[in-house]
Amino acid sequence: MLEFKPLHDDFGARVTGVDLRPPLSDAVRLEIRDAIDEYSFLCFPNQSFDDDSHLAFTRAFGEPEPNHVKRGQTGEIHYFGTIGNVLDDGGTRGNADKRTKFQTGNNLWHSDSSFQATPSFISIMCAYEVPDVGGQTEFVSNRAAYRLLPEAMKATIDPLTVIHDYVYSRSKVAPDAVTPSHAASLPPVPQKLVRVNPRTGAKNYYLGSHAKNIVGWDDAPSRALLDDLQDRATQPDHVYSHDWEAGELVIWDNRCLLHRGSGYDADLYRRHMRQTRVQGAGSTLDE
Ligand SMILES: [Fe+2]
Repeated sequence: MLEFKPLHDDFGARVTGVDLRPPLSDAVRLEIRDAIDEYSFLCFPNQSFDDDSHLAFTRAFGEPEPNHVKRGQTGEIHYFGTIGNVLDDGGTRGNADKRTKFQTGNNLWHSDSSFQATPSFISIMCAYEVPDVGGQTEFVSNRAAYRLLPEAMKATIDPLTVIHDYVYSRSKVAPDAVTPSHAASLPPVPQKLVRVNPRTGAKNYYLGSHAKNIVGWDDAPSRALLDDLQDRATQPDHVYSHDWEAGELVIWDNRCLLHRGSGYDADLYRRHMRQTRVQGAGSTLDE
């Protein structure tokens, strides 16, 4: 019996009363699938996962998305991303490490994989070690934000297309954050600015740090509109800040949420989280 406790007026629920370890029953899987459309963010505390069960759980909701860093740098297909500073040998990377710095790109508001031709549907994170201080992830709903727009503004943005570009967004972090082969594997892609949930009809706008420009618009008004939309969505009273607990499994809907990391002291604390993503149905232009 799944119990849902809302986390914020706009979106999100903490879900108890279920052990998510595969195999999931069809009833539970369908209930979670509906809850993704309704709540956008689901946090399941006190779960017991490892990579094998995490990947099996991921497959229950669609096709896992290959990690773009690994694929772009080495051509390998690998489904996990590691968030935090814990190394395979159990040691840690500190604040001065280059990869710690590159991960600060995740501290910009973004939607995972919006720069891919087929962007991700959901991300699934398992938290194993969390810092005592800091390390929260903030989330906002671009569905709630869309609902609050004046009707004239909705009419303006509904037909627009936006270019999303990973090399552009990472250039804000460091000029050498993306290797040449990785950059070549991720050409800029067009995405609809306004997306419609195919099961509920709910609309939201779709942007974030990878959103570079509106197709057919000059740079200045394009940037101004994208920044204005993001500012509206990320006002403090619309932000849900998630304080991670070890043992949690969290699902978020990348189609309609933005998120950002808030940073932590990698010299003082260990942080270890593993993430998979489920691919979307195709290009947003075909939705
Ligand atoms: Fe992310």
